Order: sequence, then structure tokens, then C-alpha cells
Amino acid sequence: MQFLAQKIDSVIDEFLKNIDTNWQPSDFLPDSSGENFCKEIKEIQQQCAGLPYDYLAVLVGDVITEEALPTYESWLMDIEGISKSEPQGWSKWIRMWSAEENRHGDLLNKYLYLSGRIDMRQMEISTQYLIADGMDIRTATDPYCNFVYTSFQEMATNISHRRTATLARQHGNESLSKICGTIAADEARHAKAYKSFVTKIFEIDPSEMMLAFELMMRRKIVMPAHFLRQQGEKSGTAYAHLSDADQRLGVDTSMDYADVLACLIKEWKIESMSGINCVAEKARDYLMALPDRFRKISERGIKAPLEYQFNWIK
Ligand SMILES: [Fe+2]
Ligand SMILES: [Fe+2]
Repeated sequence: MQFLAQKIDSVIDEFLKNIDTNWQPSDFLPDSSGENFCKEIKEIQQQCAGLPYDYLAVLVGDVITEEALPTYESWLMDIEGISKSEPQGWSKWIRMWSAEENRHGDLLNKYLYLSGRIDMRQMEISTQYLIADGMDIRTATDPYCNFVYTSFQEMATNISHRRTATLARQHGNESLSKICGTIAADEARHAKAYKSFVTKIFEIDPSEMMLAFELMMRRKIVMPAHFLRQQGEKSGTAYAHLSDADQRLGVDTSMDYADVLACLIKEWKIESMSGINCVAEKARDYLMALPDRFRKISERGIKAPLEYQFNWIK
């Protein structure tokens, strides 16, 4: 980690945007001091009136997941080799990544508030619960495991925001489509960064990196909102229903899980990885066979059950 931190400034320049010229939530929202504010809100509400129930549920899930950023930042700050006492090293990356991510929940939250379709108080209660409940992504403080996780997760969020963008357009909501698409582009850029960290670790410590990749896939990548609940529910209840809605909508499916894994295997050139010990060779064989195994399981097609009544939606 210290070795990689030597180039942290060039990593930041390559993968993060300049703050002064980066997009901000207000670029996509009506100006509350403008003459047309009320008219613009009406337009947003008209565009949101036709959004289907499952779609809104998934969008609320996305917002709450983004809003639980304090959990992710504090988790990442705790990784071995990342220290607040070295503000110009890895912790600079984490701060600057968090600062970009913070715009996602901020924008989506404000948009949903204006949409008139959401019970904001219930959404806020779920958000507070999720941050209070935290997460357990089974990486402990291991940097190798954590960078596998973040690579996977940024790719997965890119896919789900991209799909919500496409669906918004199909339902005639261009402004929401643009919002989700813009956020998706950030996620893709972040995914590139985290994937590049793993690539660099593979260059200098291939056997251990391979074992960490295998370990994370054996443990399975759990979503950061896996403890999501609504008021009165047990931890994780709303998350299970939301996953069903995701599957029904095709926004974040078990097939995507296999596809993301296959992309990572290709990106990190797992198949042709050389100079690894025999335990890591076994790990490589396990990983190479995994996407097909996941695809077969998802082809068996577990059909998500019927709609669930979320208290977030009016
Ligand atoms: Fe995000
Ligand atoms: Fe992200």
C-alpha cells in the first residue's frame, strides 16, 4: 500500500475530476430562486407521475444506498495501509472519492423530494437505519479484498444506474434519465480506478492477490445496503424485497453478477496470469470456472415473487 501510495496524486488526476468544473446536483435541479421554480417542479411531477411502482422502489433503494456513504468512507479509511495520519497518501484518495460520491445521493434525494411520489419521512428513516446498522462486506481490513469488493461494486452500481436511466427514458422522463446516466458515468470512472489498483497489486504480489480474489468470490459479494429495512422491520427485510424488485425490473440481476465477474477476470488477465504459486494456481482455476457456474444457476430462473408494498412510495 505504501508503494502504491507514492503515485496517489497521479492516480487522483487520472480517475477523479477537478472539483471546480465537475458537475453538481444543482446543475440538474430547478433553481429555487428562479421565476420558473414552481412551473419546473410541476414539470418534474408530471414526468414522474407515470413511473411504475417497482421502478420507484428501486430508485429509492439506489438513493438510500448512495446516502449511506458515511459507512463506506469510514470502512475504507480503516483498511490496512490507509491512515488519516498520512493525509496526502491513500486517505487523500478516499476523501476525494467520497467527495465525488456524495453528489450522487444528494442529487437523487433532492429529485425524489420534488417528484411528489415518495414518502420522504419513511425514506429518511430507512436511510438513518441503514447508516446506523452499518454493513459487513466480509473484507475485514484487508486492502486486497477491499479493492476486489470496490471494483465489483462500482461496476455493479454503474450497471444499475445505467438501467434506471434507460427505463426513465422509456417512461418519458428525460431529466431523470440524464441524472441516472450522469451518475452511472461517475461509477464507471471509479470502477476503472479500483480495477487499476488491483492490476497494480497483481504486478507486484500476484499469488496473494489471486487468493484474495478467490476468497471474496467464495464469500460472495454482498451489496452495501444488505441491512436495509423499513420502519418496524428487522434488519435486511427491505433489502430482500428490493432485490426481488431489481430482478423483476432487470436492473440488477444474478446474470449481472456473473457478467461483472467475467469482466474482472478479463480485465485482470486471470487466465494467463504467470509467476504464481500452486495454491494461487488452484484459486485461478476456481475463478475461471465461476462465471459459467453463476450463469447456469441464474438461468434456472428464480422468478421474483409478486410486488411488495414499500412504505416509501405514495
Ligand atoms: Fe455512487
Ligand atoms: Fe460508486
